[in-house]
Amino acid sequence: MDNESAAEDIIKRRAIFYRSFGIYAEVGGFYDYGPIGLKIKRNIETAWRRLFPEGLGLLEVETSMVLPEVVLKASGHLATFTDPVGVCTSCHTPYRLDKLLEEYYESRGDSESLSGVKRLKLNDLAARIASAGIKCEKCGGTIGNPENFNLMFKTQIGQKGTDVAYLRPETAQGIFVDFKDIYRAYGLKLPCGISQVGKVFRNEISPRQQLVRVREFTQMETEIFIDKDAKFDGFGGVDFSEARNEKIPFIRRGEDSESELTINELLGDGAIPNEYFAILLYKEKELAELLGLEKGRYRFRQLEKEELPHYSMGNIDLEVKTSYGYIEVAGNAHRSDYDLSSHAKLSGKDLSVLSNEKKVLPHVIEASIGIDRLLFSIIDGAVRDDGRGWKFLALKGSVAPYLYAVFPLQKDEALIKKAREIKAELETKHVASLYAEAGSIGKRYARADEIGIPNAITVDFETLEDKMITIRDRDSSKQVRKGIAEIFDRVV
Ligand code: ATP
Ligand code: GLY
Repeated sequence: MDNESAAEDIIKRRAIFYRSFGIYAEVGGFYDYGPIGLKIKRNIETAWRRLFPEGLGLLEVETSMVLPEVVLKASGHLATFTDPVGVCTSCHTPYRLDKLLEEYYESRGDSESLSGVKRLKLNDLAARIASAGIKCEKCGGTIGNPENFNLMFKTQIGQKGTDVAYLRPETAQGIFVDFKDIYRAYGLKLPCGISQVGKVFRNEISPRQQLVRVREFTQMETEIFIDKDAKFDGFGGVDFSEARNEKIPFIRRGEDSESELTINELLGDGAIPNEYFAILLYKEKELAELLGLEKGRYRFRQLEKEELPHYSMGNIDLEVKTSYGYIEVAGNAHRSDYDLSSHAKLSGKDLSVLSNEKKVLPHVIEASIGIDRLLFSIIDGAVRDDGRGWKFLALKGSVAPYLYAVFPLQKDEALIKKAREIKAELETKHVASLYAEAGSIGKRYARADEIGIPNAITVDFETLEDKMITIRDRDSSKQVRKGIAEIFDRVV
């Protein structure tokens, strides 16, 4: 069922990311990033930082990954952060029941039943699986023992083991717990926002599809705190009259297909709950396109009521088309005052703040973006063929691991010296470049293309005379001669 993704060969060959603990027995759901994957991941984070915390003028924090039980009791995760699970009664392979049923309907092209799965509760899922005759993929056994399984990893603080804790399943709770202190210390006023990037952990039942469903991953989250009774008066320097008119591909609740609708229309009929929520979607569209997810590869989807997380008054996911079908890469939620009021109750601390001389317990609008799924979908959709069967990644400069490859035409001391000088100059301008001198120039071009480097600079003997280099474009493989100075002017 876990079909190959388009980019699988390149991902493996260049060790962009790979299964963790590979030399030991199978432990699913954990991936390590190799040097190229890590650079791409960092570029995604940089682009997000530019558009979200920096672009919207928000604060960024880093909070603990280990959370005492009380935090997750207050947040509701202890009671409700579950997935519907069943196990094969013969070989004990675990299955996530909703995903199993969705795959079954998808394989039969039954889109009506497929879209209805999201609304089914545990017992209905189990009953449908039984009546459809869906059996264990491994041994053909019956799938039984349905239960709602809590996805959090449990641990303990200290030696005695009496202080139960969990690895955080989202970065958001740290922001909520710290909110009032940050509000005071930084003299914030509503509306305001706090972001965080960091690892989160979920004990997924059936990790699969490479980075799409893993047990340890990185989220980039933004929480906007608002006074729900105050009139919207702009946020984050966004030109809202422009944002309003932006068209986005959108699937409304209860519908199966998407339409191009303006943010204004979606605000008008309540599909987008408010202007702050609209700003987050507007920025996500910008992020998707900046990272190379062009129109037609992404869409927004309003979640059905039955799909909403326990804290949510309304969710809209950003979904991207991949070899595995559409996958959710970001979840946007109206969390109301759910989190702050629960933490206030359990901690006994007043978490309301002063805004326009009145006490307000803010409502929260959230954008939660998963880097790993985003990275996977970018790479998966970037595979191209050079016409001779060589596959390469057509990554945009904003995500590519290096902007330039720098090559001496051959292993000659003078050429090597000049090429290294060019690389050093690029470094002073903070432009990532890859230097390589081994192998034929054709092979070096091919290896650079493969990992998505947009341009290759080649230094030849003429360069030493006329200070011109050859610059080769990855996608067209066209080469032009340019002055070295022109390259540096371009990257300033
Ligand atoms: P799904 O329904 O696919 O399990 P979710 O609704 O639980 O996803 P959220 O809780 O909204 O996901 O998490 C926010 C973001 O974190 C997701 O949009 C996704 O990018 C990322 N994410 C969530 N679970 C995983 C996972 N198991 N592996 C990789 N990324 C994940
Ligand atoms: N913070 C949203 C989520 O991880 O579900």
